[in-house]
Amino acid sequence: MKTLRLQLRFLVPLVLTLVLAALVALPLMDRLTLRWFARDLNNRDVLVANTLADAITEAQTDGKTWRVQTLFERAVQDERLVAIALCSADDEMLRRTDGFPRTLGCARAREISNRNDPRLPLESGAVHVGYQPLDAENASSDRLVLLHDLSFLDRRSLDTRRYLIGFIVLLGLAMALITVVVAQLSWRGWVSGMRGILRGEGLLLPLLTSPPELQPFASEVRARLRDLEDEYRRGLDLVAVWSPERLRSLLQTQLRGDQVIVVSNREPYLHERLNDGQVIVRRPASGLVTAVEPVMRACSGTWIAHGSGSADREFVDAKDRLAVPPGAHDYTLRRIWLTPEEEEGYYNGFANEGLWPLCHVAHVRPVFRESDWQLYREVNERFADAVAAEARSEDPVVLVQDYHFALLPAMIRERLPRATILTFWHIPWPNPESFGICPWRREILQGMLGSTILGFHTRFHCKNFIETVDRYLEARIEHEHSTISYRDKETLVESYPISIAWPDDTSTWPSVDECRRRVFERLGLAPGTCLALGVDRFDYTKGILERLHAVERLLEKRPEWIGRFVFVQVAAPTRGALEEYRAFQQRIHGVTDRINQRYGRPGYQPVRLLAEHHEHEAINELFRAANICVVTSLHDGMNLVSKEFVAARDDEQGVLVLSRFAGAARELSEALIVNPYHVEETADALHRAASMPPAEQRERMASLRMTVRENNVFRWAGRMLADAGRFRLRERIAARVQRHTNEQDETTLHA
Ligand code: F6P
Repeated sequence: MKTLRLQLRFLVPLVLTLVLAALVALPLMDRLTLRWFARDLNNRDVLVANTLADAITEAQTDGKTWRVQTLFERAVQDERLVAIALCSADDEMLRRTDGFPRTLGCARAREISNRNDPRLPLESGAVHVGYQPLDAENASSDRLVLLHDLSFLDRRSLDTRRYLIGFIVLLGLAMALITVVVAQLSWRGWVSGMRGILRGEGLLLPLLTSPPELQPFASEVRARLRDLEDEYRRGLDLVAVWSPERLRSLLQTQLRGDQVIVVSNREPYLHERLNDGQVIVRRPASGLVTAVEPVMRACSGTWIAHGSGSADREFVDAKDRLAVPPGAHDYTLRRIWLTPEEEEGYYNGFANEGLWPLCHVAHVRPVFRESDWQLYREVNERFADAVAAEARSEDPVVLVQDYHFALLPAMIRERLPRATILTFWHIPWPNPESFGICPWRREILQGMLGSTILGFHTRFHCKNFIETVDRYLEARIEHEHSTISYRDKETLVESYPISIAWPDDTSTWPSVDECRRRVFERLGLAPGTCLALGVDRFDYTKGILERLHAVERLLEKRPEWIGRFVFVQVAAPTRGALEEYRAFQQRIHGVTDRINQRYGRPGYQPVRLLAEHHEHEAINELFRAANICVVTSLHDGMNLVSKEFVAARDDEQGVLVLSRFAGAARELSEALIVNPYHVEETADALHRAASMPPAEQRERMASLRMTVRENNVFRWAGRMLADAGRFRLRERIAARVQRHTNEQDETTLHA
C-alpha cells in the first residue's frame, strides 16, 4: 500500500506534465502544418497561374473570352482547386467559376492572400486564397484568384493530432513503467538500507551495507538514539529512590531476566563452630558484603565465594551449594574450598601483602613473591572454572568483586566469550608510578581488561587506571567515552560510588535514648559523656592510629574534655595471619593504654578499644548512641561506615568527622572533612563536633541522610546493570548485523 502511494506521488506529476505538453504541442502542430502547406499551395498557385496565363492572354487577345471560362471549368476539375476567378489590376471581377463565393471580391481576396494565414472559412470548409498576376513583370496584368481546398489539411491535422496523442500516451505509459520499476527498486533498496540501519549497521558498525544516501539518515538515528540513551540515563538518576523492586524490574526488562553470578573472595554468610561445639552463622565485617548482599537478595542468582567458615562444609549440598540467607533462601551461595597453601599465597600473600598496600599507598611496603603470584593465578583459574560451571547460559551477567580477582575477567572471557563481565574494584587505584612497582603489572591490567565494564568508586580512580593502562599497555583509549580497546575488546571504565541499603523500616529499632542508655550502661559511661565512635576492620589503612593521636591531642589542648569525652573504637579482627597487621594491632593496643594511663582516672577511660567481632545490630546500637562518628581512613575506596552511621541517625543528630581520603568525602560534604595526617586539624574537628549545637547537627545530618538515601546501593547496582543492559543490547544488534552480512555473503557466493 505504501509502495503504491509512493509511486502515485511520482506518477501524478508525470501525467500532469504530459497533458500540459500535449495542450501546448497540439496548436503548435496545427500552425506548423498550415505553414508547410501554405508554402506548397503558393507554389501550386504560381504553377497554375503560369499554366493558364498564355491561354488566357491568347483568348483575351482573340476576343474569345468565353474560352477563359472553359479553361477555368477544366482547371477546377482538379480535386484540390475549388474555384478560380480573374480580376483586373484595379480589382474588378472579370470572370469566375460557379463555385467561387459571391461574397468574395477581388480586393478582399488580395488582402486575405497577403496574410500569414491566408485561410478563408466557407460553409463547405476552409479554403486557401491565392492571388497571382498573369504576368509578374507587368503591373497592369490581370490577376488570378485561386481557392484551394483546405479540408484535407484539417484531415491531416486531425491525423497528426491522433498520432501525437497516441505518441504522448505511449511515452507516458513507458515513462510510468520505468518510474514504477525504478521506484520499486529504490524502495526496496531504501527499505533494506533502513532495515540495515535499524539492525544497527551504521550505528554500531561504520555503515557496512547501508547505501550512502542513507548515511545522513543513519546519523540522525544515531543522534536520536544517543539522546534517548542520555534521557534514559538521566531518567535513571531522576528516580527519587532506588529500591529492590526497581532493581528487580530493571533486571527483568533490560537484562531480560538473565542469570546474575557474583564472584567475591569473602562470602556473605559463614558457618562457624564455636568452642562449645555450637555452630553459628556470621555476617563478616566487609563493606563488599554490606553492599552486594542486598543486591543479590533483589536479583537472586548465584554468589560464588571462598568457603572460609570453620563449619562451612557441613552446610552445603553435593555441589557445594546452599540457599541463603538462612531461612529466606533468596539466592544460591556456591562455596569454593581453598587449601591453606592457596589461602596463604593468594589471599594473605598476593592480595593482602601485595595489591592491598600497593593500591592504598598507605606507607606500608607491598610485598611481591613469585610463589604468591602463582597461587593467585591458580585460584583465579579455579574461580573461573566455577563461573563456567554455574553458568546456565553462554552469556550470563558476571559481577566480579575486588582485587582478589584481577585476572578473573579475562579468564571468564576465555571460557564464556559472550558473558557480560562487570568488575568492581572496591579499593583505590593508585597513580601509574605507584602501580608500576608491581612486577606483574601488565598481566594484571590485561586480566582486568577482560571486563565489559570496570567500575571504581570515583572518577579519580578511573582516571588513574586509564593512565596506568596508557603507560603500560598498547591500548586505544577514548577519553570522551571513557573506554579502553585492547586486543579488539572494549572495556568501559566508569565510576559507580558504592553505598548501603537504606533502612526503610526502622520501627523495630530501639529508640536513640534506649540505645544510648544500653551502651552507656554496658560501657560504664557517666551520663552526659560525649561519645565518639570509630568502627573499622582492624586495618592499618583506616587511620586508627592517627585518630588516637587526635583524641590525645584534644585532651591535651582542651583539658575541659577530660572526664567528659570518650572515644570507643570497634576494631573487627582481620588478616591476623599477617605480621604487618599483628604489629599494627599491637601498636594500637599500646597507644590506647598510654592515652588511658595519661588521662584516665578511676571510673574514666578516655579510649575504649573493642577489638572483637560485633553483629550488625550491636553496631547499629552504637551508631545511634554516639555523638560523633570518626572515619579517618588514610586511603579508602569509599568507606561504608560513614554511610551506615548516617542511615542509623533517624533522629537527625550526631556529627560525622570524615577523612578527605575516603571516597565517601566526595558525596558527604556536610561532614566535618579532615586530613587525618594532620593531628591538630583532626583534634580541632573533634572539638567542633563535640560542641556543635543540635540545630547545626540537624541541618547537616538531614542533608547527609538525603544524599545517602538517594544514592543507595540499589542505585549503584542499577547504574551498573543498566550499562550492562545497554552493552548487551548493542552486542545483540552487532550479532544480528553479522548474521545478516554472513547471509548476504553466502547468497552472493551461491549466485
Ligand atoms: O575495602 C575492600 C574490601 O573488599 C572491603 O569490601 C572489605 O571490607 C575488605 O576489603 C575485605 O576484607 P577481608 O579481607 O576481611 O575480606
